[in-house]
Amino acid sequence: MDQVSKKIDLVENTEIPNLFPKNQWYVCALSKELSTEKPLARTVLNTNLVLFRHHNGQAVALEDRCCHRALALSCGTIEDGGIRCGYHGLLYNETGKCIEIPGQEKIPTKAKVKAYPIQEKNKIIWFWYGSDEHPTPNSEPPEYAIHDDARYVYDGDVYHYDAPYQLIHDNLMDLSHLGYVHLKTIGGNANVHMNAEMKVEQEGNTVKVVRHMPASEPPPTYQMAYPFKDKVDRWQEIVFKVSHITIWTGAVDANTDKLDDPQRQGFHMRGFHGITPETETTSHYFWTIATNPSDPEKAEELKATVVQQTKDTFDEDRIVINEQYQNMLKIPNQNMIDIHVDVAANRARRIIKELLQAS
Ligand code: FES
Ligand SMILES: [Fe+2]
Repeated sequence: MDQVSKKIDLVENTEIPNLFPKNQWYVCALSKELSTEKPLARTVLNTNLVLFRHHNGQAVALEDRCCHRALALSCGTIEDGGIRCGYHGLLYNETGKCIEIPGQEKIPTKAKVKAYPIQEKNKIIWFWYGSDEHPTPNSEPPEYAIHDDARYVYDGDVYHYDAPYQLIHDNLMDLSHLGYVHLKTIGGNANVHMNAEMKVEQEGNTVKVVRHMPASEPPPTYQMAYPFKDKVDRWQEIVFKVSHITIWTGAVDANTDKLDDPQRQGFHMRGFHGITPETETTSHYFWTIATNPSDPEKAEELKATVVQQTKDTFDEDRIVINEQYQNMLKIPNQNMIDIHVDVAANRARRIIKELLQAS
């Protein structure tokens, strides 16, 4: 069977019964991407959406296909009442109902497009990927309070990957690659990363990884962002959930604070990573990075530095992951071996596999 075939687990090389875990909230956009000016075309989970902000402020997701002659609605324009198709002018409201056909009084009841359940929360637009049993949400979207926390400044971006979403999970769940892939930014000594003590815990469909690297050299990004005196005690805490991963990293001057104190000082970076399959072989990666300015006067400057360093870091990941997938296609259907750093990534894979089998 072809490696790009729909139902193959790329690591285990086994067949899987479904493409993506159902009954989950996935990120379909960052709030800042939606405007009342211009519609946004985006495919998530093989669903073609036009996303826009209604003039009343509401985020809207409709099927990106006009019911008249099938032009993408994302080629149209946003108006007071909704979105107008750019071909013959049908106007749709936020529920997908056609409310105006220029030059024709009667609007057929069939003149409508599908509206999808989305919700905006903490500056993130969440898309409900339901099932026959739960076509509408049976839970609230996840909470990500950092985006609304005045102690932090943040920004982010959306990256497109020509690779399946689970390769991005693997990458984020294994931070041992920092010492090889990210030497110019958040890396540091490869041996320190590979040998860092790692604690992995699982509760339901959540996996938590905690790594501590005491008395290590602060890497370039840290030195740029915070006046560390010398060596630092460094931490990484990763929390995996089915549709997104949060990573809290940072450092304090060595021996000044306890790394398990939630109120610890020092330099913090809090990453949000929404990983949403676009198709079975391509993905969207919605990321933001937040940090705590030690000097409020320099908050904007610090944000710019941290966001740029993060972009550089994720560009490095993108190159590796895209190359990795291309090589998997070039030399397909091979088994892989596991090493010690794979524990957390394998837990995440098992959770996805079980959800795919259950749905
Ligand atoms: S194709 Fe949209 S109005 Fe004709
Ligand atoms: Fe990375």
